Amino acid sequence: MDFQLKTLTVAQAAAEKSDVLIVLVGSAPLTSKDPLSVLAASARKAGDLPDKAGKQLGLYRPEDVVASRVVLAAIGDGKPASVRSGVIAAVNAVKAQGPKRVAIVFAQPTDGAAVASAVTAAADASYVYTTTKSKAEPRSIRQLIVGVADAAVVTGAFDTARAAVQGIELAKEWGNRPANHATPTLLAEVAKGLAKLPNIKCEVLGPKEVEKLGMGAFAAVAQGSAEPLRFIVLRYHGAPKDEAPVVLVGKGITFDTGGVSLKPAAEMDEMKFDMCGAASVLGTFRALGDLQPAINVVGLIPSCENMNDGRAVKPGDVVTSMSGQTIEVLNTDAEGRLILCDALTYAKRFDPAAVIDIATLTGACVVALGGVRSGLFTSDETLAAAIEAAGEASQDRCWRLPLDDDYAEGLKSNFADVANIAGRAGGAITAAKFLQRFAGDFAWAHLDIAGTAWKSGAAKGSTGRPVGLLVSYLTTRANGGDGSGKASKTKTPAAPAKKARSAK
Ligand code: BES
Ligand code: MN
Ligand code: ZN
Repeated sequence: MDFQLKTLTVAQAAAEKSDVLIVLVGSAPLTSKDPLSVLAASARKAGDLPDKAGKQLGLYRPEDVVASRVVLAAIGDGKPASVRSGVIAAVNAVKAQGPKRVAIVFAQPTDGAAVASAVTAAADASYVYTTTKSKAEPRSIRQLIVGVADAAVVTGAFDTARAAVQGIELAKEWGNRPANHATPTLLAEVAKGLAKLPNIKCEVLGPKEVEKLGMGAFAAVAQGSAEPLRFIVLRYHGAPKDEAPVVLVGKGITFDTGGVSLKPAAEMDEMKFDMCGAASVLGTFRALGDLQPAINVVGLIPSCENMNDGRAVKPGDVVTSMSGQTIEVLNTDAEGRLILCDALTYAKRFDPAAVIDIATLTGACVVALGGVRSGLFTSDETLAAAIEAAGEASQDRCWRLPLDDDYAEGLKSNFADVANIAGRAGGAITAAKFLQRFAGDFAWAHLDIAGTAWKSGAAKGSTGRPVGLLVSYLTTRANGGDGSGKASKTKTPAAPAKKARSAK
């Protein structure tokens, strides 16, 4: 999908060549005298276009409009969340007719955050997965034109959103692929492909190297599978070499059967999504390659299957992690933390400014927060504030949960330094407490995306979250705007990421 930003009034948008024109109408009175604005104002007055985001009115061949179909879409207060519901409703209403060229115009003055929200919402609503269907019907929309009163003011936000969409869609694609089409080896190939983008490098380690590093916890999870594990190391260099990187660690379990502690059959297919943390790291690198922000980023992806097999790790087995800590594997289904703990230990070698791990880690987090917000865990206040702000800015929200040491009580083991599970209570938090033991030496945050990475039911599919949050966090940080103390690389601190490139 090709996005274009233009300076357009509603009158100019009416003259724009497109199959569908979506006019976003906010609460403020419409004062323009062009035919469409007048129509929208009278529809509003008559009660046919209620002032509530998501409400809409379809028009067919209205006079003096090039597009044969027009949707007047209410966006209420015009805030990013309202724009999102307005655009999603409008695109859903027209997509069945297979429009190729769609124009979206803001009827009132707007800002960068709202424009970014329109871009990501239009992409979300029109996304179609096709890879493993024999008669693929791809998304019809080829071109999306976004019209605003003054394009120059929102260019940075628009470019960031467009890049985020590329990343979100890469994450959706790999999240959605079934496990036999998304093996650890294939994920590593995706990472190698990303290394073709400017300033991105990739290195892939296999079973021998991982064993040599002493990653006994990661290797133990992988040992029950016929698919060889991969440890993917991605690097993006956008800042001077000596600047400490942000390290992203993504859980890459390409299928989670639970292992010997086998999961029930119902909905087990959804465990193909257990690599969505990994997919979000790949997607974020896709966006970095496009935006070239002034920051260094490392991506680490431990990837393997969690299978039940004659060689599989068994409940009670004690494994030695790369950190030297021994772990009693009381439940083989708590495998995510076992692969992540070794990746966290590996992260230390980069002397990171911050480490964020992203994982579909616990069913308990789904119970706690549902599919709306990801779980955020960190004891670093600066990092917490920056990640929360990035979630708000990108409409990819998270919610902070506690990390009191009392929650670690249940992880005690009689046979190892730590057990990989505690009781049922507070399961998302005890999982985070386990990880925290391996993240002692740097600023660390953990995002539990078990509830937000994919949707179940009729709309089953990957959401691409939290690529939006991560791209927002990294681009803001590149511009010195996250309270990290990193000096601004641009003349204007709030400058969009694109500007950072020209500043280098
Ligand atoms: N991948 C799952 C977490 C998960 C489960 C995500 C359901 C989304 C929906 C993870 O590996 C897992 O199995 N966790 C266990 C931990 C338990 C054994 C302590 C869980 O949440 O049940
Ligand atoms: Mn599991
Ligand atoms: Zn899992």
